[in-house]
Amino acid sequence: MQTSWIPFIPEGASTVSGKVDALYFYLSGVTVFFTLLISGVLTFFVIKYRRRMPFEIPRPIAGSHKLETIWSVIPFMIAMSMFAWGAQIYFQNARSPKNANEIFVVGKQWMWKIQHSTGQREINELHVPIGRKIKLIMTSEDTIHDFFIPAFRIKADVLPGRYTTQWFEATKPGTYHLFCAEYCGMNHSGMIGSVIVMQPTDFDNWLSGNSSQQSPAVAGQQLFQSLGCVSCHGANGEGGRGPELAGLFGRKVFLTNGQTLIADEGYIRESIENPQAKIVNGFNPIMPTFQGQVTPEQLIQIISFIKSLQGFKSAISNNDAGSCCESRAIDRGTTGRAAEFEIVQQEL
Ligand code: CUA
Repeated sequence: MQTSWIPFIPEGASTVSGKVDALYFYLSGVTVFFTLLISGVLTFFVIKYRRRMPFEIPRPIAGSHKLETIWSVIPFMIAMSMFAWGAQIYFQNARSPKNANEIFVVGKQWMWKIQHSTGQREINELHVPIGRKIKLIMTSEDTIHDFFIPAFRIKADVLPGRYTTQWFEATKPGTYHLFCAEYCGMNHSGMIGSVIVMQPTDFDNWLSGNSSQQSPAVAGQQLFQSLGCVSCHGANGEGGRGPELAGLFGRKVFLTNGQTLIADEGYIRESIENPQAKIVNGFNPIMPTFQGQVTPEQLIQIISFIKSLQGFKSAISNNDAGSCCESRAIDRGTTGRAAEFEIVQQEL
C-alpha cells in the first residue's frame, strides 16, 4: 500500500492525521533535543572537570534557588504543553460530530463485519468517501479487538457487551491498511483488511450498486415485531405498558432510583439485555431479558430502528455531552410538541 516520505510513518489520509503527526514530531523533537543536550553537556563536563591531579578535591556547591527554579519551571511548562496539545487532539477525536454518517462494525475472531446504515455489508473491507465525516459504532461478538487505521491515525478498542465509537474524515482516495491492534487469539495477525477511500460520486455509485440489502433500521423493525416488543412499546414505539421509544435516542431519561441519563446505544442495549438494571420512572420492572436471544448485529438493528423513530424534539438536543450522547432528535417532532416537552422537563 502507500508509503510516506518519512520511513516508518504511514501516509496521512484523514483530517486528523496531520495534527497527530505534528504532536508526534513535537514529542520526538523535544526528546531528541534534551537527549542531545544532556549527553553533550555531560560529555563536556566529564572532560572539562576531570581529575587532573591525585588527591584533587572539588569545591563544594551550596545550592542555587535560581538554578533550581529554572530547571523546574521550564520542564513543567514543556510537560504541560504536551498535555494541553494532546488533550486538545484527544477531545477532538473522542467527540463524534453530530452530522456524521454512521457505520456499524462488529469484530469477531477473526474478521471485521461492517454494515452501512443503508444496509450494505462488507467483510474486512470498508468503503468510505472523502470529505464526509464517518462515525464508526463498534462492538464485538467475542473478545476484545481493536479497530486501527494507521493512515487515518485512529484506533479504538472494540469490546463485547459495549459500544465504542470513533470518527474520521478521509482526505485522499486510495487503499489503506486496516488492522486489529489487540491480541485476540490465534489468528489475530490475520484479522486485517482494507479501507477503500473513494471520491463521493464513486462511493455513491458503489453504495447504490450494492443496495439489495435491508437497512439495519428496517431489519430492526422486523425484529421489533417478531420479538414481541410491540406489545408493550407500541408498533411505532409510542409506548404503553413499556416506555415510549419514539424520539428516545439522545433524550434525557428519568429513572425510578432518581437518577437521570441520556439515552445512547449503550443504554438501549443494556435495557434489552438486562431490563431490570435501569427502570424508567413511572414504569414497572415487567420486561423479560432478551440476553442470548439477539445477536450483536441484531442489537444494532434494533437500536437503529429505535433511533429512526420520530418523536418529541429533545430539550437537550444541543447539549455537548460527548461522543456517546449526541442527539438524533434535531429533525424530530413538531415545534409545538417540542416546546411542551421542554416545559415538562424544566418542571421535572
Ligand atoms: Cu481481533 Cu486481534
